[in-house]
Amino acid sequence: MRPQRHLKRLHLQSPHASMLANFYARALGMTCHEVNGTWFCRHEGREVLVSEGQAGQLHYALFAIQNSAQWEEFTRATQDLPKANLAAYAELPHTAIGFMDPDQNRMVFVLESDLEEPHPSSSLTAKTASLPAAVSQHFALRTQQVDNMKRFYTEDLGFTLSDVVQDDSGQLKACFVRGNEMHHTLALFGAPVTCFDHQSFETPSWDELKNWADHMGRLRIEIVWGVGRHGPGNDVFFMVRDPDGNLAEISSEIEICTDSRPVGQWKHEERTLNLWGKAIMRS
Ligand SMILES: [Fe+2]
Repeated sequence: MRPQRHLKRLHLQSPHASMLANFYARALGMTCHEVNGTWFCRHEGREVLVSEGQAGQLHYALFAIQNSAQWEEFTRATQDLPKANLAAYAELPHTAIGFMDPDQNRMVFVLESDLEEPHPSSSLTAKTASLPAAVSQHFALRTQQVDNMKRFYTEDLGFTLSDVVQDDSGQLKACFVRGNEMHHTLALFGAPVTCFDHQSFETPSWDELKNWADHMGRLRIEIVWGVGRHGPGNDVFFMVRDPDGNLAEISSEIEICTDSRPVGQWKHEERTLNLWGKAIMRS
């Protein structure tokens, strides 16, 4: 079995970092505080960091590997890959290692026990008591070189290919790769642009998803896509947009995969991305 990895955190770039932090505090019920220009937004299994930069781009995505044996296996398997410079990110443990993907997105890996426990903090504090659980689970990127990106994530970083989306000529339009038993940890969408697409927070059941939708409604945060059900992953979902236009997804019922699961094949059409109706097509 390949070393398992779970998404723990996205560090987003933004020209309006405090505004984005305020959005995640309200919409996702996170507690946010700022240290040296970086906003740390967290609540029980979900985490978003925001600091200065270009809208729609990542500083990095952080994955945790759960035990030392798998960490050693991962570092051995990736020892010949060029490493990314992580010096700008003081919040990362010194043992973290990073890689730049073909689009220059920075992917960081860390042994779970080397991650600091979040400190309780002040500043932007949302009312979280009544909100259901939801944990950072997957994210998606738009790319102009989806074949190269698929090769990098599966062959170099050791993610497992779950599903592919191809057009009528057999050209790859999107793919979904997993780092653990959940259907996708990362989705790659072929597109005319190169940017961050969305991050997703997995909630335990349909009931909780409904409660999250009611929460967004109370805040007058518009649901911009969904409620729907994705073909790949079979998860029910809805999406909202942060002030930079990044999509944030609440998802539930994502498919749990066995090691022997065959790669799924999907047509490039709206129905693939939403079995119930309309889709946001990236190409
Ligand atoms: Fe998603």
